[in-house]
Amino acid sequence: MQRVMIVGSGHLAHALWEGWHQNPRQPRTISLLARSGAHRHLWTQDVWSTVHFDVDSIQNYDVIVLTVKPKDGPSALAQIVPNMRSDAVLVSPMAGWSIAQLRSYGVCGPIARVMPNVSAAIGASTTLAAFDGLDQTGQEEIARFLGECGTVTVVEEALINPYTALIGSGPAYIFLLLQSLIRGGQRLGADEGLTRELVSSMVEGAARLVRDRSQDSLDDWIRQVASPGGTTEALLAVLDRAGWPLMIQDAVVAASRRADELGVPS
Ligand SMILES: NC(=O)c1ccc[n+]([C@@H]2O[C@H](COP(=O)([O-])OP(=O)(O)OC[C@H]3O[C@@H](n4cnc5c(N)ncnc54)[C@H](OP(=O)(O)O)[C@@H]3O)[C@@H](O)[C@H]2O)c1
Repeated sequence: MQRVMIVGSGHLAHALWEGWHQNPRQPRTISLLARSGAHRHLWTQDVWSTVHFDVDSIQNYDVIVLTVKPKDGPSALAQIVPNMRSDAVLVSPMAGWSIAQLRSYGVCGPIARVMPNVSAAIGASTTLAAFDGLDQTGQEEIARFLGECGTVTVVEEALINPYTALIGSGPAYIFLLLQSLIRGGQRLGADEGLTRELVSSMVEGAARLVRDRSQDSLDDWIRQVASPGGTTEALLAVLDRAGWPLMIQDAVVAASRRADELGVPS
């Protein structure tokens, strides 16, 4: 049976934990190694009562998932590396942290550098992975494990920072859009709960259309919705005046630059 230790008890740890417990494709034990009770509120009493605080226990695990903030990477690695088995796989979703950087902190065994997102909580993460020191079978095994939390795409490591800006951080663009749409609806007197349900479903449908009909350009889709003099044209004029399309592109570039900065040891 595979034994997995999630290091960190914050938001991503919780999302992955939920995803792995909803859709397990093989028997395994998943444990949590926490630093403090600062994120205790995310967890049920049942789970929290099993949490480890003792870093020595790391030696009993086959897969270590390092869900600490990039700034905590050095101290966390200083604690866990001496206790890791040499064949244990380190799975690192830390933004910006390269495989070479993980190696410079003494990680000798196999590494999966990954970029999931919080939709892992419902098995809907879009996860990217780059591997080092894993043979084909090992890569497939880790990809299957990550796949229990959503889709997994194996990429060159150089693509992880750009895609962190799009995929790891990506739900934030959509959450903000949804929040703005719901607030706009409220200004028109619409019920918050119903609007939340309707606009979430609308976003899901539009996203599926774009993915499934990849032969049609996004310009075509916009044209199909925006008839001259109509309601969509009115909203697009406001967004264009505010520079919204370029603003989103700037946000993507800023997030990717930040990932590059986080990967530079301070
Ligand atoms: N959140 C996302 O949507 C997302 C998506 C993709 C990738 N990531 C990456 O995932 C990582 C975690 O992000 P997050 O949002 O989950 O952060 P978070 O909510 O702040 O959680 C970080 C956790 O790490 C714990 N920690 C720090 N040092 C530790 C140590 N030495 N031993 C054990 N636990 C330790 C913290 O402990 P305390 O509880 O004591 O503070 C906290 O529970 C980051 O590197 C981020 O780049 C996050």
